[in-house]
Amino acid sequence: MIAPARDVHIIGVGSCTPDRVLTNKDLEQIVDTSDEWITTRTGIKERRIADPNTPASALATEAARRALKDAGIDGTEIDQIIVGTVTGDRPFPSTACLVQDRLGAKKAYAFDISAACSGFLYALSLARTQVASGAAETVLVIGVETLSKIVDWTDRNTCVLFGDASGAVVLRSTGQPGGILSTKLHSDGALTNLLEMPGGGSLHPASHETVDKRLHYIRMSGNDVFKYAVRAMESVACEALEAAGLKPEELDLLVPHQANYRIIDATARRLGLPMEKVFVNLDRYGNTSSASIPLALDEAKRQGRLKPGSLVEMVTFGGGFTWAAAVVRW
Ligand code: UT7
Repeated sequence: MIAPARDVHIIGVGSCTPDRVLTNKDLEQIVDTSDEWITTRTGIKERRIADPNTPASALATEAARRALKDAGIDGTEIDQIIVGTVTGDRPFPSTACLVQDRLGAKKAYAFDISAACSGFLYALSLARTQVASGAAETVLVIGVETLSKIVDWTDRNTCVLFGDASGAVVLRSTGQPGGILSTKLHSDGALTNLLEMPGGGSLHPASHETVDKRLHYIRMSGNDVFKYAVRAMESVACEALEAAGLKPEELDLLVPHQANYRIIDATARRLGLPMEKVFVNLDRYGNTSSASIPLALDEAKRQGRLKPGSLVEMVTFGGGFTWAAAVVRW
């Protein structure tokens, strides 16, 4: 990749979660599961669930408003809005266009990216090139999911894992050293069927039959995904660090995708990082797919774990398969 011409900094961060909390105990009333199984196999204790009248665009807009406030700018200054999501309000138009309208971001052009749990880092990487090249001055990057709306609430293998949330960052060149130092993205389309929602697209358009066959829900071969996730997250994390000329031990904080505590723990071990240097909040939110990293980043910042000069790496893995990492000097 050509070296970026300008520095690109994260100048604002925000997030939003629905108020409704669904605990493991609540799930015991819905499917044949237990708090003990969910806690030991995943680390998740509770997750947030959007109410029926709250679409992804509402959560995305609120996270964006908070990120803009944090950056000290308003919507009219945004040149580009990229939303990573697989649970947008509608197949089209994009959720990004809905957010653009609600923020009054008149001059921005807006579009969605579909990369499952890697959606946010894919969007961040693309946004970085836009700012670095001078094609855009100010870019809003959002990860948002309302996975509760595509979860099969009769399938204990998946329904205990996911939650709803959004997170956003604002990118700009500041002329200062640091900022986003490297990004690395990967895909493997041979493995699509291990994690998918089969119905609703051009392969299986919505019909009574697709509803009867429960094709409009998430399906996951959890164990296979688990094994790939650990290997891929370690390897892409090392690749992004190497591209920035850094070693894992130089990191102040790892902000991994929050899918499973055991995946996070295994990734940290392989990188030789103690858990004190790893940010974890999946106990309270579950797996929020593309929202998980910006939500974690926002909490880490508010907890004072991202100080000026801190070296932080974000790393993720998701359906597609897709996986990605980004290294940032805060
Ligand atoms: O967001 C990116 C993509 N997603 C991920 O990264 C998720 C990756 N996968 C995982 O996190 C884990 O594989 C899971 C948490 C999904 C599953 O954990 P596991 O240790 O891989 O369990 P398993 O799928 O091998 O299932 C073990 C047993 C099975 O019972 P049998 O066949 O051994 O009798 C399941 O039926 O656990 C059973 N099981 C449950 N039991 C109670 C599966 N789900 C549940 C449940 N409650 N909710």
